Amino acid sequence: MRVIKVKDYERLSKLAAKIVATLIREKPDAVLGLATGNTPLGLYRELIRMHKEEGLDFSRVVTFNLDEYIGLPKNHPQSYHHFMWENFFHHVNINPSNVHIPDGNAPNIRQHCDWYEARIRKFGGIDLQILGIGRDGHIGFNEPGSSLGSRTRIKTLLEVTRRDNARFFDGKIENVPKYAITMGIGTILDAKAILLLASGESKADAIKKAVEGPITAMVPASVLQLHRDTTVIVDEAAAKYLELPWETEEDYERVESLFG
Ligand code: PGA
Repeated sequence: MRVIKVKDYERLSKLAAKIVATLIREKPDAVLGLATGNTPLGLYRELIRMHKEEGLDFSRVVTFNLDEYIGLPKNHPQSYHHFMWENFFHHVNINPSNVHIPDGNAPNIRQHCDWYEARIRKFGGIDLQILGIGRDGHIGFNEPGSSLGSRTRIKTLLEVTRRDNARFFDGKIENVPKYAITMGIGTILDAKAILLLASGESKADAIKKAVEGPITAMVPASVLQLHRDTTVIVDEAAAKYLELPWETEEDYERVESLFG
């Protein structure tokens, strides 16, 4: 596992965007796994800037989002469909038929989950999966206790996650859906490369457990230690409890310029 410690959220977002943009320039039809939440917003803003100012081309890029609430209309302001189109897709030249987000209103959710897995395979698998991390160590909506081999499926959300997300639902936990579709941990581990982003002190404990703790289903992100190409970018606040020195941004740039 590669862990890069950067100064703040802005550096985190810029470095993440550089990694994504490098992939897209090398492989214009790259398959990206995307995440919602506050953490990747800076990454999306920087990719939009690169599209507008540097001509970064998304026309052949294919995307698969990690998860979606079950039962929220697609145009609901808190649906992940709405989030992705508002914060990213509307602002770049992506082909809408290349965008995949689980459909929380599919008539047969289980069949839809199987279709989603098959669709990822059809495009040759995910080249780079972007992840945030929950305070409880979740990735996607794979809550603690999730099977480490799980595939795209229905998950019941833990109260801590619903409470964290209530801020987006008029502060009312009862408005936060109880169920979601999420790629499984096995689905995530199949990605060729993974980029996990974490910013702020509220993530420091989860990062410590995920990166330096034992691999356990109680901290789903810890399974990334088994993946051969995972990069974690953390800002100083999220890196607060890490004991190993890991890499600085300068170390990373030096290695990239020598061997990249
Ligand atoms: P956040 O969410 O980026 O809004 O902190 C991360 C997550 O819960 O996976």
